[in-house]
Amino acid sequence: MRVIIQSDYQEMSKYAAHMIAEQIKRKPQSVLGLATGSTPLGLYKELIRLYENEGLDFSKCTTFNLDEYLGLTPQHPQSYDSFMKENFFNHINIDPRFSFIPNGQLDPLNLQGIKIYCEWYENEIQKEGGLDVQILGIGANGHIGFNEPGSSFGSRTRIKTLTEKTRQDNARFFDNNIDHVPKYAVTMGIATIMDARQLILLASGNNKALAVKKAIEGPISAMVPASIVQMHPQAILIIDKEAASELEYDW
Ligand code: F6R
Repeated sequence: MRVIIQSDYQEMSKYAAHMIAEQIKRKPQSVLGLATGSTPLGLYKELIRLYENEGLDFSKCTTFNLDEYLGLTPQHPQSYDSFMKENFFNHINIDPRFSFIPNGQLDPLNLQGIKIYCEWYENEIQKEGGLDVQILGIGANGHIGFNEPGSSFGSRTRIKTLTEKTRQDNARFFDNNIDHVPKYAVTMGIATIMDARQLILLASGNNKALAVKKAIEGPISAMVPASIVQMHPQAILIIDKEAASELEYDW
């Protein structure tokens, strides 16, 4: 595990963008696992800049997003589908046929339908040869994707119930009203994430400091899903000084 501490959010984002750009130059057909939320916004902005100014070419890449809220149409302004288009896909030369986002319109009562869909998502990743890199944020409660505390380390793409903490944290995108935040999400599982050949976990700000500390200096525990990155042979954490502020070890 490598921990790279950058001075601030912008430097963290640039560093991560540089790593992704190198990956794409090395392998134009890269399969990228993508995340949403506030954390990767700066990374996407920098990648867009590299596309516009330095000709970084996404045309052969395939992408798979980590998760999507259940119950939102792709057109809903807070769906992760909308997020990705608005903040990344609409500004680069990625082929929309090769950018996959979990379907948020599954019927939570149709267990067989959900199973078939989630297996299909996993198979699509396999068909592309697996994820070369998975970008991750971290929840203040230690979640990765929407794998909330207690999620099995063996889990695959499936439906998860969001915790009150996650819904509170994300209410800022839903008129600050937790009642508007969906209760369920479809998410890659922890085993799906761990299959990626490389993990890049980003964290910024004081509100992530404790989660980062638990993830990399605490015991590996299902109660801190991000702590599983300690077991990954190619995990890189790129974090800013604030997110690193609780670390005790001299990384
Ligand atoms: C988003 C995702 C989540 C976020 C996490 C942090 O696709 O999978 O795990 O990475 O909730 O969110 P932000 O970056 O908004 O603090």
